[in-house]
Amino acid sequence: MASRALNLFTSLLQPPVRHHRLPRLQGGRAWRQRRHRAGLLSLLLKQSPLGVKAWPPNLSHISTKAEVSGFDGPASLSDCLKGSRVVVIPAGVPRKPGMTRDDLFNTNAGIPDLITAVAKTCPKAMICIVTNPVNSTVPIAAEILKKHNAYDPRRLFGVTTLDIVRSNAFVAEAKGLDVSKVSVPVIGGHSGVTIIPVISQAVPSVSFQGAGRETLTTRIQNAGTEVVNAKAGAGSATLSMAFAAEKFVDSVLQAIDGKRGVIECAFVESTVTEAPYFSTPLLLGRDGVEENLGLGNLIEFEAKLLQAAMPELQQQNIAKGVKFVKERY
Ligand code: LMR
Repeated sequence: MASRALNLFTSLLQPPVRHHRLPRLQGGRAWRQRRHRAGLLSLLLKQSPLGVKAWPPNLSHISTKAEVSGFDGPASLSDCLKGSRVVVIPAGVPRKPGMTRDDLFNTNAGIPDLITAVAKTCPKAMICIVTNPVNSTVPIAAEILKKHNAYDPRRLFGVTTLDIVRSNAFVAEAKGLDVSKVSVPVIGGHSGVTIIPVISQAVPSVSFQGAGRETLTTRIQNAGTEVVNAKAGAGSATLSMAFAAEKFVDSVLQAIDGKRGVIECAFVESTVTEAPYFSTPLLLGRDGVEENLGLGNLIEFEAKLLQAAMPELQQQNIAKGVKFVKERY
């Protein structure tokens, strides 16, 4: 089978905690939570017929085609990355009730170390970043890659698929549709008002009256917070996030494997708006982003959401990530 010959290696990386900021978390609950998240995603990726090199090792007992190798700790990082064509950075420390994703900026700022290792070991890999705040970790990664002359904007993705998964679920529920046939693009970024569901472009077409559209939009924008509050300090979305990340990574793998017409939304370098990074539907190919499919037609309500998202996205999240690298690296 062609896909086996491709020998696709996917590495799942754990962002290191800044131990000097969180000394008591080492080996503690936060560490176990992060392992748990990566484990769930690994379990789903183990079902890929395209070949996966992932953590943890006990997955190797599952009777699927994907091969599994286990790596743990910084010393094995370059062995883990060697030969990887897709690198997934699944999660950092989750937020607690009352926190925004941006409050994780310093906690999860260990991303540069992982990206540096990718730049040195497998500079051509597709990098899929799930770690929050995605609106900042993607620009951080881009700046680090530029420093190593390894930046290819077609290959760096902020994974926003959970927003699409949620939009599909909520729209299907509201309209009594078969969710497997519902597709709602979500543009912008991955936090609060920067999450812009484009319900007017949903397939199949759905209609919501004024307040209904607004209520649904607010629910999608706050869905991560809904989970964080429900878990009451025990973390954020794990199962739905693993489902969404696996869906995105599978699309990337399919595109690398030569499948045509693969489309996913993701947060990438962009010229579609004035924000230098922005999520829109993308046509994926063997080398990553083949074509940015842009905003499409937005109704007035969505155009206003876009306007409202820009200051936070551009001046806070993206600028903060770029400044962080310029000042520290
Ligand atoms: C989510 O959307 O569920 C994740 O980004 C985690 C979070 O903190 O909300």
